[in-house]
Amino acid sequence: MTVQRATAFAPASVANVAIGFDILGFSVNALGDTVTVARSATPGVRVLGIRGVAEDLPLEAEKNTAGRALIALCETLKLPFGMEMTIEKGIPLSSGLGGSAASAVAAVVAANALLDEPLPKIDLLKFAMQGEAVASGSMHADNISPSLFGGLVLTVGIEHPRVKQIPVPKGIQAVIAHPHMFVSTKAARAILSRTVNLSDFVWQTANLAGFISGCYTDDLDMIRASFQDVVIEPQRQLLIPGFADIRNAAMAAGALGCSISGAGPTMFALCLDADAQGVRNAMVSQFARQDLKVDDWIVAVQSEGARVVAS
Ligand code: HSE
Repeated sequence: MTVQRATAFAPASVANVAIGFDILGFSVNALGDTVTVARSATPGVRVLGIRGVAEDLPLEAEKNTAGRALIALCETLKLPFGMEMTIEKGIPLSSGLGGSAASAVAAVVAANALLDEPLPKIDLLKFAMQGEAVASGSMHADNISPSLFGGLVLTVGIEHPRVKQIPVPKGIQAVIAHPHMFVSTKAARAILSRTVNLSDFVWQTANLAGFISGCYTDDLDMIRASFQDVVIEPQRQLLIPGFADIRNAAMAAGALGCSISGAGPTMFALCLDADAQGVRNAMVSQFARQDLKVDDWIVAVQSEGARVVAS
């Protein structure tokens, strides 16, 4: 029987994960966006409404991340019908938690359920990436892939992206602290130097390789030693008041590492279960010293990706 309407949830995500700028991210199921898509006899894609924690987003499908993703899907598949959608935003705007990606992912996952022959998730990735590009100004999948597939995900390539879900050692959790302020992803990308100094390149490459190998071999010492962004974080930390104090407090409380979530201003720390509460308290109290209120969560790094929740 043809499915006329479907609703999908896509989780938030932490992109970059300190050492994997534009290529690494993990899903955060504590919050996410929900999109309902319905078949329409009228061709084209329409955004009927946006509700939730962020309503001030374009209703024009071309300019909306979820709308643009569905246009890409409908055009590529040459669908004989149109699509209408409503978006329920659970992820605050410009928070560094992958809100634009989650809307695009939820839209393509819901739309996929309406197809006579639904596609595998890997085929949905590029449609969602086109949506995300509307918001961030460039094609990268470090929020899209974890939101779509779930867990800690590495994406290699843009034209023909390949994704790999990386195992996370047991007992590792993430503390997420979202201060009530905005950082524009486009602006946070614009301030980045176009060149990387050779020794930083070597150091960052070693850190990425160390972190990934530490994940595969349950080597917490390697994860701790390699979890440092020497390229992007030094350039962006000025965008977050009290960044160094927050990071130092998390590390003093036992975190394995602490950095900026995506383009910020949300910060995150990886830590062992036993240290999570202390790390959370340390980060929240440092943000408070900056007069910043935060929403905070302790979450599993290994978690589910986008799924249909009603059809
Ligand atoms: N990797 C991206 C960045 C994530 O840090 O700019 C936000 O789109």
